[in-house]
Amino acid sequence: MAIERTFSIIKPDAVAKNVIGEIYSRFEKSGLRIVAAKMVHLTQAQAEGFYAVHKERPFFKDLVSFMISGPVMMQVLEGENAIALNREIMGATNPKDAALGTIRADFASSIDENAVHGSDGQDTAKEEIAFFFSDNELCARTR
Ligand code: PPS
Repeated sequence: MAIERTFSIIKPDAVAKNVIGEIYSRFEKSGLRIVAAKMVHLTQAQAEGFYAVHKERPFFKDLVSFMISGPVMMQVLEGENAIALNREIMGATNPKDAALGTIRADFASSIDENAVHGSDGQDTAKEEIAFFFSDNELCARTR
Protein backbone atom coordinates (compact mmCIF):
# COMPACT_ATOMS: atom_id res chain seq x y z
CA MET A 1 0.00 0.00 0.00
CA ALA A 2 1.25 3.52 -0.80
CA ILE A 3 2.60 5.90 1.82
CA GLU A 4 0.41 9.00 1.63
CA ARG A 5 0.13 12.36 3.34
CA THR A 6 -3.14 13.93 4.37
CA PHE A 7 -4.17 17.23 5.89
CA SER A 8 -5.99 17.32 9.23
CA ILE A 9 -7.54 20.05 11.36
CA ILE A 10 -8.58 19.71 14.99
CA LYS A 11 -11.42 22.24 14.94
CA PRO A 12 -12.15 24.97 17.55
CA ASP A 13 -14.69 22.84 19.47
CA ALA A 14 -12.17 20.05 20.11
CA VAL A 15 -9.36 22.50 20.92
CA ALA A 16 -11.71 24.17 23.45
CA LYS A 17 -12.47 20.73 24.96
CA ASN A 18 -8.72 20.26 25.52
CA VAL A 19 -8.59 16.96 23.64
CA ILE A 20 -5.74 17.66 21.19
CA GLY A 21 -3.60 15.05 22.94
CA GLU A 22 -6.35 12.44 22.91
CA ILE A 23 -6.90 12.99 19.18
CA TYR A 24 -3.14 12.84 18.50
CA SER A 25 -3.11 9.54 20.38
CA ARG A 26 -5.82 8.20 18.01
CA PHE A 27 -3.70 9.23 15.01
CA GLU A 28 -0.61 7.54 16.45
CA LYS A 29 -2.40 4.36 17.56
CA SER A 30 -3.79 3.97 14.05
CA GLY A 31 -0.26 4.11 12.60
CA LEU A 32 -0.36 7.69 11.31
CA ARG A 33 2.66 9.90 11.94
CA ILE A 34 2.55 13.66 12.46
CA VAL A 35 5.08 15.19 10.06
CA ALA A 36 4.05 18.85 10.49
CA ALA A 37 1.85 20.72 12.95
CA LYS A 38 0.86 24.23 13.99
CA MET A 39 -1.79 25.95 16.09
CA VAL A 40 -3.44 28.88 14.32
CA HIS A 41 -6.38 31.19 14.89
CA LEU A 42 -7.67 31.37 11.32
CA THR A 43 -8.63 34.68 9.76
CA GLN A 44 -11.94 34.99 7.94
CA ALA A 45 -10.05 35.20 4.62
CA GLN A 46 -8.15 31.97 5.38
CA ALA A 47 -11.32 30.10 6.38
CA GLU A 48 -13.24 31.37 3.33
CA GLY A 49 -10.34 30.43 1.07
CA PHE A 50 -9.92 26.98 2.54
CA TYR A 51 -13.64 26.19 2.28
CA ALA A 52 -14.18 28.03 -1.05
CA VAL A 53 -15.40 24.79 -2.65
CA HIS A 54 -18.42 24.95 -0.30
CA LYS A 55 -19.19 28.65 -0.83
CA GLU A 56 -22.59 28.01 -2.44
CA ARG A 57 -23.72 25.63 0.29
CA PRO A 58 -26.28 26.90 2.82
CA PHE A 59 -24.00 26.28 5.79
CA PHE A 60 -20.97 28.12 4.37
CA LYS A 61 -21.34 31.25 6.53
CA ASP A 62 -21.87 29.22 9.71
CA LEU A 63 -18.94 26.94 8.86
CA VAL A 64 -16.60 29.92 8.39
CA SER A 65 -17.84 31.60 11.61
CA PHE A 66 -17.27 28.41 13.54
CA MET A 67 -13.80 27.86 12.11
CA ILE A 68 -12.68 31.36 13.16
CA SER A 69 -14.32 31.14 16.62
CA GLY A 70 -11.11 29.93 18.27
CA PRO A 71 -7.73 28.38 17.54
CA VAL A 72 -7.39 25.22 15.48
CA MET A 73 -4.59 22.65 15.43
CA MET A 74 -3.48 21.77 11.91
CA GLN A 75 -1.30 18.80 11.04
CA VAL A 76 -0.02 16.75 8.17
CA LEU A 77 -0.39 13.02 8.78
CA GLU A 78 1.66 10.39 6.99
CA GLY A 79 1.22 6.66 6.68
CA GLU A 80 0.01 3.79 4.55
CA ASN A 81 -3.31 4.72 3.02
CA ALA A 82 -3.30 7.84 5.22
CA ILE A 83 -6.19 9.66 3.51
CA ALA A 84 -8.75 6.85 3.88
CA LEU A 85 -7.37 5.75 7.25
CA ASN A 86 -7.75 9.25 8.70
CA ARG A 87 -11.33 9.49 7.33
CA GLU A 88 -12.06 6.13 8.94
CA ILE A 89 -10.83 7.09 12.41
CA MET A 90 -12.57 10.50 12.13
CA GLY A 91 -16.00 8.93 11.56
CA ALA A 92 -18.93 10.31 9.57
CA THR A 93 -19.39 14.08 9.11
CA ASN A 94 -22.49 14.02 11.32
CA PRO A 95 -21.47 12.60 14.72
CA LYS A 96 -24.93 11.00 14.99
CA ASP A 97 -23.89 8.74 12.10
CA ALA A 98 -20.29 8.22 13.25
CA ALA A 99 -19.23 4.68 14.17
CA LEU A 100 -18.53 3.91 17.81
CA GLY A 101 -14.96 4.67 18.84
CA THR A 102 -14.34 7.23 16.09
CA ILE A 103 -13.09 10.73 16.89
CA ARG A 104 -16.38 12.36 15.93
CA ALA A 105 -18.46 9.85 17.89
CA ASP A 106 -16.35 10.53 20.97
CA PHE A 107 -15.62 14.26 20.73
CA ALA A 108 -18.06 16.00 18.34
CA SER A 109 -21.36 17.42 19.48
CA SER A 110 -23.11 18.21 16.15
CA ILE A 111 -22.65 18.39 12.39
CA ASP A 112 -21.79 22.09 12.81
CA GLU A 113 -19.13 21.42 15.45
CA ASN A 114 -17.66 18.11 14.40
CA ALA A 115 -14.18 18.17 15.96
CA VAL A 116 -11.98 17.33 12.97
CA HIS A 117 -11.41 17.85 9.27
CA GLY A 118 -9.55 15.44 7.00
CA SER A 119 -8.76 15.59 3.28
CA ASP A 120 -11.11 13.47 1.17
CA GLY A 121 -8.78 12.52 -1.71
CA GLN A 122 -5.25 12.71 -3.09
CA ASP A 123 -5.75 15.96 -5.00
CA THR A 124 -7.44 17.73 -2.09
CA ALA A 125 -4.78 16.45 0.33
CA LYS A 126 -2.04 18.03 -1.83
CA GLU A 127 -3.98 21.30 -2.19
CA GLU A 128 -4.90 21.53 1.49
CA ILE A 129 -1.37 20.79 2.71
CA ALA A 130 0.00 23.47 0.36
CA PHE A 131 -2.70 25.93 1.51
CA PHE A 132 -1.30 25.99 5.05
CA PHE A 133 2.22 24.51 5.01
CA SER A 134 5.30 25.42 2.99
CA ASP A 135 7.60 22.62 1.82
CA ASN A 136 10.22 23.46 4.44
CA GLU A 137 7.68 22.94 7.25
CA LEU A 138 7.12 19.30 6.24
CA CYS A 139 9.47 16.85 7.89
CA ALA A 140 10.89 13.84 6.12
CA ARG A 141 9.72 10.47 7.38
CA THR A 142 11.17 9.70 10.79
CA ARG A 143 11.89 6.08 9.83
S1 PPS B 1 -17.37 15.88 3.94
O1 PPS B 1 -16.92 15.34 5.24
O2 PPS B 1 -16.43 16.89 3.41
O3 PPS B 1 -17.65 14.81 2.99
O4 PPS B 1 -18.74 16.52 4.28
P1 PPS B 1 -19.62 17.55 3.50
O5 PPS B 1 -21.02 17.18 3.78
O6 PPS B 1 -19.20 17.67 2.08
O7 PPS B 1 -19.32 18.87 4.29
C1 PPS B 1 -18.26 19.72 3.95
C2 PPS B 1 -17.83 20.49 5.17
O8 PPS B 1 -18.90 21.26 5.69
C3 PPS B 1 -19.20 20.88 7.02
N1 PPS B 1 -20.66 20.81 7.15
C4 PPS B 1 -21.36 21.65 7.87
N2 PPS B 1 -21.00 22.71 8.57
C5 PPS B 1 -22.00 23.38 9.20
N3 PPS B 1 -23.31 23.04 9.13
C6 PPS B 1 -23.70 21.99 8.42
N4 PPS B 1 -24.99 21.69 8.35
C7 PPS B 1 -22.70 21.23 7.75
N5 PPS B 1 -22.73 20.16 6.94
C8 PPS B 1 -21.46 19.93 6.59
C9 PPS B 1 -18.58 19.54 7.24
O9 PPS B 1 -18.19 19.37 8.58
C10 PPS B 1 -17.39 19.60 6.32
O10 PPS B 1 -16.34 20.27 6.98
P2 PPS B 1 -14.88 19.65 6.92
O11 PPS B 1 -14.03 20.62 7.67
O12 PPS B 1 -14.51 19.55 5.47
O13 PPS B 1 -14.95 18.33 7.60
